[in-house]
Amino acid sequence: MSSSTSLVFSIVLISAVATLTPVFATDHIVGANKGWNPSINYTLWANNHTFYVGDLISFRYQKNQYNVFEVNQTGYDNCTTEGAVGNWSSGKDFIPLNKAKRYYFICGNGQCFNGMKVTVQVHPLPSPPAAATAHELSSQNSTAAAVPRPGFQALAVSLALILFGSTGI
Ligand SMILES: *[C@@H]1O[C@H](CO)[C@@H](O)[C@H](O)[C@H]1NC(C)=O
Ligand SMILES: *[C@@H]1O[C@H](CO)[C@@H](O)[C@H](O)[C@H]1NC(C)=O
Ligand SMILES: *[C@@H]1O[C@H](CO)[C@@H](O)[C@H](O)[C@H]1NC(C)=O
Ligand SMILES: *[C@@H]1O[C@H](CO)[C@@H](O)[C@H](O)[C@H]1NC(C)=O
Ligand SMILES: *[C@@H]1O[C@H](CO)[C@@H](O)[C@H](O)[C@H]1NC(C)=O
Ligand SMILES: *[C@@H]1O[C@H](CO)[C@@H](O)[C@H](O)[C@H]1NC(C)=O
Repeated sequence: MSSSTSLVFSIVLISAVATLTPVFATDHIVGANKGWNPSINYTLWANNHTFYVGDLISFRYQKNQYNVFEVNQTGYDNCTTEGAVGNWSSGKDFIPLNKAKRYYFICGNGQCFNGMKVTVQVHPLPSPPAAATAHELSSQNSTAAAVPRPGFQALAVSLALILFGSTGI
């Protein structure tokens, strides 16, 4: 195989594998560089992200000043921590989003009323082509949701092809 043929071949393969394989989990840092603090609209932040099963959500804040409770919709709406399913207070809390469902997080010390609450919808991992299409159809924002995330495997495959492809594999 000539090196230009193998290059073309590897590009085709990269595209195929990248489209099919979401590999990396994303760490979604709540509030980005503003972190977990009062008077931030976390609805705007959440609308700007797409969450998949296996991703992390992480809260960064001044330890001892704030905290994080995972609550249900009632707790989120009313800023109450009764029946909370989890709480964190390290100041740098990484919380795995292991289920395809809506999650609710609030600050438990009254700052929930000042906006320290965030809810995120976690989507199942797309397993294309069927799931990706369903995902696209069901999503509120099909463009963002349908964008595939390139995987490490694609990189490895392409590297192998570039290294060994031209030597006659
Ligand atoms: C946050 O932004 C959303 C979307 O624009 C808006 O609907 C909501 O009222 C805002 N929340 C607050 C507390 O300002
Ligand atoms: C949404 O994401 C873009 C790109 O990452 C960023 O530039 C923008 O500031 C974000 N907006 C909000 C409200 O987080
Ligand atoms: C939540 O608050 C609303 C009013 O804001 C109230 O009607 C409702 O009973 C409260 N729910 C709970 C479970 O406390
Ligand atoms: C949330 O949990 C509280 C306390 O366990 C419970 O009273 C309430 O009904 C729950 N709300 C929802 C929407 O499940
Ligand atoms: C926080 O979680 C721990 C278990 O991880 C539990 O024992 C404790 O009661 C919780 N605290 C509150 C205030 O809910
Ligand atoms: C979804 O995408 C459209 C553009 O196609 C954009 O106008 C809209 O703000 C996006 N909605 C969300 C929730 O990101």
